[in-house]
Amino acid sequence: MFEEAQYFAPIATQDDGSVVVELATSHPGFADPVYRARRNAIAGLAVNHRPGTPIPVAEYVEREHEVWALVTKELAAKHAAYATAEYLGGVARLGLPRTRIPQLQEVSELLEPLTGFRYLPAAGLVPLRDFYGVLADGYFHSTQYIRHHSVPFYTPEPDVVHEVIGHANALASDRYAALYRLAGEAARRVEGDAALEFVSKVFWFTLEFGVMLDGGELRAYGAGILSSYGEIEEFRSMEDIRPLDLTMMGTTHYDITKYQDVLFRADSLQHLEDVVGDFWATCDDDSIAELMATHP
Ligand SMILES: [Fe+2]
Repeated sequence: MFEEAQYFAPIATQDDGSVVVELATSHPGFADPVYRARRNAIAGLAVNHRPGTPIPVAEYVEREHEVWALVTKELAAKHAAYATAEYLGGVARLGLPRTRIPQLQEVSELLEPLTGFRYLPAAGLVPLRDFYGVLADGYFHSTQYIRHHSVPFYTPEPDVVHEVIGHANALASDRYAALYRLAGEAARRVEGDAALEFVSKVFWFTLEFGVMLDGGELRAYGAGILSSYGEIEEFRSMEDIRPLDLTMMGTTHYDITKYQDVLFRADSLQHLEDVVGDFWATCDDDSIAELMATHP
């Protein structure tokens, strides 16, 4: 059901050092040379960034700030009805700007005093082991570009709306931030690719697309749902919502370019921490192999 895909456009570095983002012909910005030039420049900032140095400023145009303002306003109304109380507490603590796109450096500076998390710029897809591993150190890789202004409520890729409204507001919660760190520690601990993939799928079905019972209602805490204006209202009517189940989550196939047709529901935040937090805190290649062996 989720139309907003999480497929990253490939990035190529040319012989002269310039960076090119290869947008698909179906991308809303494909035929806009000005947008594409800006995408290339923003990707170049991440490629050339060195950890420990400030995140370079991305240049946005007024129409892009207007996209942020519009999406922020509309999502805030949806969040009041559909987001968990813990996430809404994160929104209040973080205090993101509402009328302009924040720079990632600014997001990082708002977040660090709250939970210790800092942002790192990513040009596109970050290898699983790096993306998850640095969560253990309190770093979150984030894209910096914004969706094309022609379609403010749709993006085929995870953009700054997803990374910041979806993830930073969650990372402003002590309890969610602790879960992100545990996912990172699990990714560091496991050695095999199959075990790493299992850890990442559990992340996908919880911190990206998780829902839970909260205040007597089914509410979302996953960043992928909470940043997706088009679909945020739809999760409650989805047919395939399953109880939390590590083996099912870790082995269910998902396609980042297509709709999500299965979600997993926690009974409470404590339930999520007990099942998923404890799994990430203790899992290793052997325990994951045992869980995979029980897959029907
Ligand atoms: Fe995400």
